[in-house]
Amino acid sequence: MLGIEFPILAFSHCRDVVAEVTKAGGFGVLGAVAHTPEQLEIDLRWIEEQVAGKPYGVDLLLPQKFVGADEGGLDREQVRSLLPPEQQAFIDDILRRYEVPSPPADMQVGRGGALNVSPSGYGPLLDVAFGHDIKLIASALGPPPPDLIERAHGAGVAVVALAGKVVHAERHAAAGVDLIVAQGTEAGGHTGEVATMVLVPEVVDAVAPIPVLAAGGIARGRQMAAAIALGAQGVWTGSVWLTTDEAETHPVVKQKFLAATSSDTLRSRSLTGKPARMLRSAWTDEWERTDTPDPLGMPLQTALVAEAQFRIQRAAHQSGSGAEQLANYFVGQVVGSLDRVKPARQVVLDMIDEYIDAAAAINDVMGDD
Ligand SMILES: Cc1cc2nc3c(=O)[nH]c(=O)nc-3n(C[C@H](O)[C@H](O)[C@H](O)COP(=O)(O)O)c2cc1C
Repeated sequence: MLGIEFPILAFSHCRDVVAEVTKAGGFGVLGAVAHTPEQLEIDLRWIEEQVAGKPYGVDLLLPQKFVGADEGGLDREQVRSLLPPEQQAFIDDILRRYEVPSPPADMQVGRGGALNVSPSGYGPLLDVAFGHDIKLIASALGPPPPDLIERAHGAGVAVVALAGKVVHAERHAAAGVDLIVAQGTEAGGHTGEVATMVLVPEVVDAVAPIPVLAAGGIARGRQMAAAIALGAQGVWTGSVWLTTDEAETHPVVKQKFLAATSSDTLRSRSLTGKPARMLRSAWTDEWERTDTPDPLGMPLQTALVAEAQFRIQRAAHQSGSGAEQLANYFVGQVVGSLDRVKPARQVVLDMIDEYIDAAAAINDVMGDD
């Protein structure tokens, strides 16, 4: 279906990772929810130059539920007007207590930046994506709308949707998607509560004959072999690319990932308003406290924290600083296995090597001779 050598799909916000995985025989998928149309145009053109005809895809968050959905989405001013003083004061308090420096006065940052989660936000991104030679379009947070499926199929583009429960997968199947990603709770980013080991065979059975990719906790060949044994046709991965050479992960966060154990993540609404797995840090601890306000809904929380996150990342390199303590990012439980920076290409090849050994080991254990 995808014209690839290895059934390894790599979700990344970083175009270099996308291109490297595709060039290595896997399939790179560019996360574009925070792109402007202009930046997406630049990135897709660059990826196409790199991959020379090999396939790649684009991913957007297309949530059904978000603040302002009934009105077709909110503009920047509307978003800003909906940020409650209590939450704004809490953010200011965090920044003050952790002594996070202000940005220079001439730097353009402010509250109100939002994710492109409404049709008016993601429509222009889809126009850019379909103007390129994409082979796949993915919807992270809801069944893709019928007009998107029609447009994709008209252009020969496969439609993928992520599912954290069987009922999500059934909805995606009814909507007419070509591939379903069964993503377990271990995964980095927005994730549900059911584990990959449990979810994958449930989804495979529920949506057959639609092919399923397993996601959540897959960073090496043994995990890939397990996914195939569970009935998946391939794997959809995210966290493992965050510690590659090519990843644009903040250097401080990259070091935290390399040092982290598998117990150092949690699902938190503190970055986007929906539960997403991320590294535990002073930032998540602050939002977890019972005496602090609740996060807002999507996309308000992203808008609320955008400036603070920018300031934290800007100052996090100062060793021992409050900003360093606060810095975090989305990552899955498999972060505990990521202890070395490698080129993305090497990750693909290592995964395949270990997969081959693991598949042989499965045969040895279960075989007759
Ligand atoms: C940093 C990060 C950001 C993510 N953002 C998105 C996103 O915008 N859209 C999406 O479909 N999935 C997103 N995900 C989830 C991945 O697509 C993938 O399902 C997940 O990373 C798989 O689990 P793993 O992290 O254990 O490999 C994100 C994951 C990470 C780690």
